Amino acid sequence: MKLWGGRFTEDTNVLVENYTASIEFDVRLAEMDIQGSLAHARMLGQCGIITEQESEQIVNGLSALLSDYRAGKLEFRVDDEDIHMNVERLLHERIGAVSGKLHTGRSRNDQVALDMHLYAREAVVQAIAGLRKLQGALVQQAESNLDVIIPGYTHLQRAQPVLLSHHLLAYFWMLERDVGRLQDAGKRADMMPLGAGALAGTSFPISRQAVQEELDFSQLYENSMDAVSDRDYLIEILAAASILMMHLSRFSEELVLWSSEEFGWIELADAYCTGSSMMPQKKNPDVPELVRGKTGRVYGHLIALLTVLKGLPLAYNKDLQEDKEGVFDTFDTLLPALELFTGLVNTLQVRANRVASAFTHDFSNATDLADYLAVKGVPFREAHELVGKLVLRAIAQGSNLAGLEFSIYQEASAAFAKDIYDVLGISQVVAARGVRGGTAPEAVKQQLNLAKDRLLMVQ
Ligand code: ARG
Repeated sequence: MKLWGGRFTEDTNVLVENYTASIEFDVRLAEMDIQGSLAHARMLGQCGIITEQESEQIVNGLSALLSDYRAGKLEFRVDDEDIHMNVERLLHERIGAVSGKLHTGRSRNDQVALDMHLYAREAVVQAIAGLRKLQGALVQQAESNLDVIIPGYTHLQRAQPVLLSHHLLAYFWMLERDVGRLQDAGKRADMMPLGAGALAGTSFPISRQAVQEELDFSQLYENSMDAVSDRDYLIEILAAASILMMHLSRFSEELVLWSSEEFGWIELADAYCTGSSMMPQKKNPDVPELVRGKTGRVYGHLIALLTVLKGLPLAYNKDLQEDKEGVFDTFDTLLPALELFTGLVNTLQVRANRVASAFTHDFSNATDLADYLAVKGVPFREAHELVGKLVLRAIAQGSNLAGLEFSIYQEASAAFAKDIYDVLGISQVVAARGVRGGTAPEAVKQQLNLAKDRLLMVQ
């Protein structure tokens, strides 16, 4: 017998039953559903809508269900359709007819909205905690590798040398914005929908505020139709998660590149790599590859939910049941990715010798040579052209700019003096960029301190 069976004379077609059921995935809301019902039942008692004694019976029954659920002892059934009706049936089995009073002044529409708000609010907190740990790992690696200079790239062509710490901290700031986006979305998740009923509110003298306070929501919905129709906060979370995954994916790409023999800048810990069943020598960076690969599914969930909502008239429509799996899968993808990335970053070894050898045939000091001429009064465009010619010349003789004899420089421009060899050293090139936010060691140390302050602020 269905909980909504009164106006039906025929059994539900079994295909329909399976097609419309959501218990397979909304079982993950069990804990939130029971918490929400506990708050609702207490409030019904306080407001005198049911007696204190009835309220207590329901509260005791629900509490027992919660412990059973945590002990893995509850059995859910597809013919009860979703988590809400499963919990109600289980409550009925436990406490009998009085369980039927729980749903007074409530609809599954505001109930499911409440459950998802509770889920999302908590999941966002977990994601932020994961992000903070990864940021901590980045800060730590940045701090212990302050003396390592790597080639910086544009177009994946050597551009200008930078500190490895500078490169790593670039990700710190991306993740800092991800934290901000999630915190912001979290504010919208922190809004209490119960009391909206099916769509129009309820005729019972309930106290929405009592439920809001018990469940510690900072706001409540001011419009019942909005309360049961709104999934904006989930879209915001999916958007923030997509951007975050995009950042992890870019970082993954670099870890894969850097750990290749061609780059050889880092060695990932064995514990975070896997091997090949055929090639005995292989050590593969599967974790960053999978993070990169899983990014697409999170984007997919964002587009899917935007699409679910775009044509929906107010208020509740069954389409909204489609909001769940994508959101669950997003956090199932995101949280392990953050944890694994933290481990990866914490345990990676920088191969300083290999990085240093990257600079033997390198022209990433060419800008500094042009800047040198510009400081001496040569218009920068002319200096650029002239240094370009010197680069060609060095390539032709198989050396780099520091390898060109001084006579060649003198021939090229009278503005060159012997001190040019000083500006060409890679450390000098890096040290010259002391502008705030630049890659000079002093600037990076300041940046590192700012990053550490951010992490301390949130502890
Ligand atoms: N399982 C439903 C969902 O996830 C719960 C709300 C159902 N409400 C309804 N009137 N059918 O959206």
